[in-house]
Amino acid sequence: MFVSVFLLVAVATAGEAFWMAEIAHQGISPYNPNPKYQIFRNVKDFGAVGDGVKDDTAAINRAISFDDRCAPGVCNQSTITPATVYFPPGTYLISNSIIDYYYTQLIGDPTDRPVIKAASTFDLDKSLGLIDANPYTDEGMLAYLPVNVFFRQIRNLVLDTTAIPPEGGALGIHWPSSQATSISNCEFRLSDDPESEHVGLLIDGGSGGLLNDLTFYGGMLGANFGNQQYTARNLKFYHAQVAVSYVWNWGWTYKSLYIENCTTGIRMGYATSITILDSAFRSVGTAIETRRLTTGTRPPAAGSLVMYNVVFDEVEEILTGPEGVLIPGQDVSFAHVGFVMGHVYDPFGPTDVTGSDPVLFPSPPRALLDGGKEGRGYYERSKPQYEREPVDAFVSARRFGAKGDGRADDTDALNKLFAFSATTSLIAFVDAGTYFVSDTVFIPPGARIVGEALASNILGGGDAFADSTRPRPVVRVGYPGDKGRVEWSDMILGTRGAAPGALVLEVNLDAGAWPHEPSGMWDVHVRVGGYPGTEQMLEQCPATPGKEMATAESVPAQCVVAWGSVHITRPASGLLMENCWVWIADHDLEDQEYAQISLYAGRGVLVDSERGRLWFSASASEHHVLYQYSFRGARDVYMGHIQTESPYFQPNPPAPVPFPLVEGYGDPDFGETCRGRERRDPHDPAVEANATLTVPCAMAWGLLVRDTRAFFVYGAGLYSFFNNYDTDCSREGYGAICQQRIFGVTASSNPAVVVYNLNVVGARAMVTRDEEDIAWFDDNRAGFTSLIAVYENGGGERSVPGG
Ligand SMILES: *[C@@H]1O[C@H](CO)[C@@H](O)[C@H](O)[C@H]1NC(C)=O
Ligand SMILES: *[C@@H]1O[C@H](CO)[C@@H](O)[C@H](O)[C@H]1NC(C)=O
Ligand SMILES: *[C@@H]1O[C@H](CO)[C@@H](O)[C@H](O)[C@H]1NC(C)=O
Repeated sequence: MFVSVFLLVAVATAGEAFWMAEIAHQGISPYNPNPKYQIFRNVKDFGAVGDGVKDDTAAINRAISFDDRCAPGVCNQSTITPATVYFPPGTYLISNSIIDYYYTQLIGDPTDRPVIKAASTFDLDKSLGLIDANPYTDEGMLAYLPVNVFFRQIRNLVLDTTAIPPEGGALGIHWPSSQATSISNCEFRLSDDPESEHVGLLIDGGSGGLLNDLTFYGGMLGANFGNQQYTARNLKFYHAQVAVSYVWNWGWTYKSLYIENCTTGIRMGYATSITILDSAFRSVGTAIETRRLTTGTRPPAAGSLVMYNVVFDEVEEILTGPEGVLIPGQDVSFAHVGFVMGHVYDPFGPTDVTGSDPVLFPSPPRALLDGGKEGRGYYERSKPQYEREPVDAFVSARRFGAKGDGRADDTDALNKLFAFSATTSLIAFVDAGTYFVSDTVFIPPGARIVGEALASNILGGGDAFADSTRPRPVVRVGYPGDKGRVEWSDMILGTRGAAPGALVLEVNLDAGAWPHEPSGMWDVHVRVGGYPGTEQMLEQCPATPGKEMATAESVPAQCVVAWGSVHITRPASGLLMENCWVWIADHDLEDQEYAQISLYAGRGVLVDSERGRLWFSASASEHHVLYQYSFRGARDVYMGHIQTESPYFQPNPPAPVPFPLVEGYGDPDFGETCRGRERRDPHDPAVEANATLTVPCAMAWGLLVRDTRAFFVYGAGLYSFFNNYDTDCSREGYGAICQQRIFGVTASSNPAVVVYNLNVVGARAMVTRDEEDIAWFDDNRAGFTSLIAVYENGGGERSVPGG
C-alpha cells in the first residue's frame, strides 16, 4: 500500500481532461442482449465539434440514441440501456432539441462547463427545449409517463437561448421527471429583453426529484413548475420577469434560494405548498405572490407558505395576495425567524395563521448548522465530482477482479476495493454492472466510492440473507465504534430472489462532531426488485389484486425481498444523504405497460442514531410493509423534502404480514395499536353515514417518530394511493379512506419535533400523537392532498439547546 502514497499528492494539472473522460470505460450492461453495448459516449466521438459554428444537433442525438436504447415514443422504460453522454468543454451549436432518453446521464466537464447554444434559427415549432427530456407525442401525451421517469441526471451544462429572438418562446430544458433524477450545476442564459418570452426550465408533470446548484439569468420565467414534490437547493435567479412560476404542486422545498433583480420572485399559482429556508430576495418587486386568502380561503388548507431564515433586501413587497399587500417590503426581516400562512397545529388545531410566531419555529440545533456555527443556515453539500483529481486518483473495481456480470460472486473483490480506497485514499470507481454478492460488503471509514451511469448495482442474495428474524446487511458502512467518514455516490443497492433477512444498507459509522465534516451519500439508491438480475420481476411476482386475503404462508417466498432497506444505528452519527431514493419496486421496470408487481420488504429507513446529526435532502422511501421512516431515540435530524408511499397491496395482507416482529428494532405492533380501530370514523359525517365502510388501520406508517428530539422536517408528502391495488380510496372528494393513520409521534419526542408543510394523501388521520388521532383530513383539505403548514409537537420545552 506504500506505493500509493505518491498518489495522495497528485492533483489534476491545468489542461488535463476531467477524469470521467479519461478513465478506462469498462462498464457493462450485463442483461442487454448486446454484449458490446456501450455505456459511455463522448459526443465528440459521434461527430460533435463544439466550436460554436458547426451544427452539432445530429451528432449529439446520435451519441444519445446509439446502440438501440429506450427511445421516447417507442419505449416507456428500461434499465438495460443506461448511458453517460459526456460533453467536453466547448460551445455546441444546436438548431433543434437534444432528445434525452430514459436512463441517461448528460454530463459536461465541470472544470469548464460546455455551452449548449441555440442557433438563431432554432426550430421553435417542432422542438420544446434545447434539451427535451420527455417529448410530447403526436397525440399530445408526454412520451414517458412523467411519474415513472427515473434514473437520469443532467450536470455541468450551460444552456444558452440568447440567440433566439426574445419574443420566441425559447426553453432551456423540458424536464417532466420523477424520483432518482436531478439537474445539477447548470446555468441558464436567457434573453434579458423586457419583452422576453424565454423560459429556463419547464417541469410539467411528475414526482421528483432534486434540482441543485442552478443559476438562471434573464427570461420571462426562470422556471415554470408543475410536479408533486421537489427539493430545490441553491437555485439563483437574476433579472427574470418572474423567477419561479407554478402551475401546480403538492409540496416543494427551497433551500438556499437566491433571487435578485426580478420583477416577481415566486408566483405560487395553484401550488399547494411551498417551504423556503435559508434564502434571500434582493432588489425584487414582489417577492412572493399567493392566491391564498388570510381568512376563508378554499380549499381551506391550500396555498400554504412556510419560510424560515429568509432575508429580504430592497424588496418592494414581500407577500401579496388577492387581498392586496400582506407584508410590505420595509423593515421586515425573517433572518432566523419563521413565517407561516396556513393551518397550524401546536399540537392541536387547526388554527389558520398568517404571521410569525416564534413558538412554531424553534431554533435548529447548532449540530445541524453549517460548520456547527450559530447564525448559519443548515449544512448542505453537493455531490462531489472530484473534478480536481487526476484520473490516476481512481481505481476500478475491475482491478480487484470484480466482474459485475450478474453471475460471478463479487463479494471479495468489492471488499478488497473498498478497503483499498480506505487505506490509500484513492477513489473506488465501480464500473457499471451488476455485482452479485453472497455476503456483506464492508465499507470502511475513509473510503470514497463513485459509480457509473447510475448503473452500478450491488445485489445481495443467497443463504446469508435468508433469516427474517436475523437481519444481515448487504452493505455495511463502518462497524459500531468506527470513527471517520465516507463519501459515496451514484450507486444502486438491491437483493436477488428471496431475501427475507437482507438489510440492504447498515450505517454504523460515527463522523464525530463539528469541525468534522459528516459522511455523504448522494444518489445512493436502494432499489429492490423490478429489474433484470433481481429475479423479483413480473414473471416471479405479479400483482394479485382482489384475490383472497393473503397470509404469511400464502405470500410467495420469492417475493419476500428484504428485511429492511436502511438502518442508521445507535452509534452512527454525522451523515448527509441527498437524493437517495429507497424504493421497493411497485412495477416491473422492463415491462412496457408498467405491469405491477407485489414485493414484500419489511422496514424502510430505520434511524436510532443516539447522537444524530443527520441530513436527509430530497429523500424518499416507498412501499415497505411496516413503515417508510422510523426514528426512535434519535436526535438532531434535518429532513426536506421527504416523500413516502404505502404498499399498493395493503391491507391485503395487513401490516406486518408476512414479517414476524423482531425484538430490538422498535417494530411497530399493529395488533396492539389497531385493536378496536378498524372502525367507522366518527369524525366524518359522510363516512359515518356509510355503514359498510371501514378504514384499514394495519397499514404501513409513512413516518414514525418516537422519543426523538430536535427533529425538523421541511416539507413532507406522505401518500397512500391504494387499497388492494384499487385507487378509489384516495380519489379526490371520496374521503381519504385508504388508511386510518400515516404519521405517528410520541409526545415525549421533545423538545422540538416540527414538521412543516405536511401533505397527506389517502389517510384519514394526518397526525397520531401518543396513539391518539389528533388531526384530520377533513379539516385540512388542500385539493388532492390534505395539508398542515406547521405541526409542532408541543408539551415540554420549546427551544433546542445549542451544541
Ligand atoms: C407506454 O405506456 C402506455 C400507457 O400504459 C401505453 O398506452 C403505451 O402503449 C406504451 N408504449 C409502448 C411503446 O409500449
Ligand atoms: C436588472 O435586470 C435588468 C433586466 O431586467 C438589466 O437590464 C439590469 O442590468 C439588471 N441590473 C443589475 C444590477 O443586474
Ligand atoms: C360505502 O362504502 C363502500 C365501500 O367503500 C362503497 O363501495 C359504497 O359506494 C359507499 N356507499 C356510499 C353511499 O357512499
